[in-house]
Amino acid sequence: MTRFTLNGEPTESMAPPDTPLLWVIREELGLTGTKFGCGVAQCGACTVHVDGFATFSCVTPVDSVEGSEVTTIEGLSPDGTHPVQRAWVAEQVAQCGYCQSGQIMQAAALLADVPQPTDEDIQAAMAGNLCRCGTYGRIARAIRRAAEEA
Ligand code: FES
Ligand code: FES
Repeated sequence: MTRFTLNGEPTESMAPPDTPLLWVIREELGLTGTKFGCGVAQCGACTVHVDGFATFSCVTPVDSVEGSEVTTIEGLSPDGTHPVQRAWVAEQVAQCGYCQSGQIMQAAALLADVPQPTDEDIQAAMAGNLCRCGTYGRIARAIRRAAEEA
């Protein structure tokens, strides 16, 4: 059994220790906002926060988060009003939407670490989060907006 905090709630997983955290979040715990894209740390669709750090949950064994605080898109804010979420709506970032929860979690981790990022900071932080719809320009604008409004 693995015990951790998920979106502020004490949580237990009965999955085998090497089960990817992504499967536990989606299949065992039923939170489907975090997406499966590649499964091999190449796309960022599965990004969550583990103790505040943006983490690819597809390659994170569940037992490695024992005692940690895990946050998914569902727990980023109680009502969808995190500054990054507000900026995403204002800039109408999403197209198909599939990559977007990962993008938002990566952006939120960036701004928690670097509240006023340069364009280079944004590019470096977001480089591992791919978007097949090519929303990169709007993503960068939304991050700059969230930084300005924070
Ligand atoms: S699904 Fe985890 S990085 Fe692609
Ligand atoms: S919005 Fe479609 S993959 Fe990013």
